[in-house]
Amino acid sequence: MANILVTGAAGFIGSHVADALLKRGDTVIAVDNFNDYYDKKRKEKNVAHNLKKNKYKLYRSDVMNMGAMHHIFMHNKIDAVIHLAARAGVRYSLEQPVHYMVDNVVGTTTLLDLCSKFNVKKFLLGSSSSVYGNNKKVPFAEDHRVDQPISPYAASKQSIEKIAYTFHHIHNMHIACLRFFTVYGPRGRPDMAPYMFTEKILQGKPITRFGDGSTARDYTFVKDIVDGIVKCLDADFKYEIINLGNNTPVKLNDFIATIEKVTGKKAKIAEKPIPQGDVNITYADISKAQKVFNYQPTTSLEEGMKSFLEWYKLEVGRKKK
Ligand SMILES: NC(=O)c1ccc[n+]([C@@H]2O[C@H](COP(=O)([O-])OP(=O)(O)OC[C@H]3O[C@@H](n4cnc5c(N)ncnc54)[C@H](O)[C@@H]3O)[C@@H](O)[C@H]2O)c1
Repeated sequence: MANILVTGAAGFIGSHVADALLKRGDTVIAVDNFNDYYDKKRKEKNVAHNLKKNKYKLYRSDVMNMGAMHHIFMHNKIDAVIHLAARAGVRYSLEQPVHYMVDNVVGTTTLLDLCSKFNVKKFLLGSSSSVYGNNKKVPFAEDHRVDQPISPYAASKQSIEKIAYTFHHIHNMHIACLRFFTVYGPRGRPDMAPYMFTEKILQGKPITRFGDGSTARDYTFVKDIVDGIVKCLDADFKYEIINLGNNTPVKLNDFIATIEKVTGKKAKIAEKPIPQGDVNITYADISKAQKVFNYQPTTSLEEGMKSFLEWYKLEVGRKKK
C-alpha cells in the first residue's frame, strides 16, 4: 500500500485511476484545478463519491502553482506520482496553443522539479498517441520517429517526454511515459467523438463526420487503460516510453455503426473536411506494455460503448430530457 499523488484526478481518466488505487488499498492524494475546458459540475461528480474516504485527500490546486504544490509535497509522504493533469484535446490546441504549452509543459516541469527535491523516485506521465503524428508505418511502436507533431497538443506531449528524460538522467528518477490511445468509457470527455456522437444520435441530431469515414482510431476502454496504469505503477523501469492502446484500429464509419447498434438509432451524418491537426490513423503496437507489465486490454468496442451508454443514460441523458 502506497501514497500516490494523482494529478488531473477530477478528470475522466484520473478519477478512474483514483478509484482503482483506493480499491486496492492505496492512499490517493488527488490534485485538480477543475478548469473549465468542460462542465466543472461533471468533475465535481467524478470526485464526490471519494471525498469522505480516509484514504482520499483532494487538493483543488494548479500543478503550475509551485507554492501550492510545494505545500502538498511538504505535508504528504508521496511514494509515486501519476501525472494526468493536462490540457487535453487536439482541436482546441490549435485555437489556444499557449494554454497547452503552459499547462502541459510548465505544469509537468513543476512536478518533476518537486519530485527531484522531495526524492520521489517514481513518476508515471500521461502522454499520447498524438505524438506519432501522421506516421505512415503502423502499428505505432515506441521506437518509431516522433519528431513531426501536427498539433500544439502533440508538440506539448512530445516535449514533456523529453523533459522527463532529462529528470531521469539528472536525478535518477524512474519515469514511464504512457502514450494513451483514444480512451473512452463512463465519465468520458464531452469533447470526444464517443460522447458527442452518442449524445447527438440519441437526440436525433446530425453528427459531424470529418472526411469520408475512413480515418481510424485505436479506441481503448478506460478500464483497460487504468489496468495498464496500475500495472505500470507496480513494475520496475528506469525510463520507458510505453503505448497503452487496444491494438485494434476502427474506421470512423464502423465506429458510427457500432454506436447505431448499441443505441438502436440511425445516425444522421453531416460531412466536413478533416480539420488541421487530426491524424489519419492511430494504431498501437502494445507488445512492449505486454512484456514490461503484462498489459492486456480485454474490452471490445461494442462492450465498451454499451457500458458508456449505460453511464450516459443514467448520469447525463436523463437530465437533458
Ligand atoms: N482521453 C484520451 O483519449 C487521452 C488520450 C491520450 C492522452 N490523454 C492524456 O491523459 C490525461 C487525462 O486526460 P483525460 O481525457 O482524463 O482529460 P480530462 O480533461 O478529463 O482530465 C484532465 C484533468 O486535469 C485537470 N487539469 C488541467 N490542467 C491542470 C492544471 N494545470 N493543474 C491541475 N489540474 C489540471 C483538468 O481540470 C481535468 O480535470 C491527459 O494528460 C491527456 O492529455 C488522454
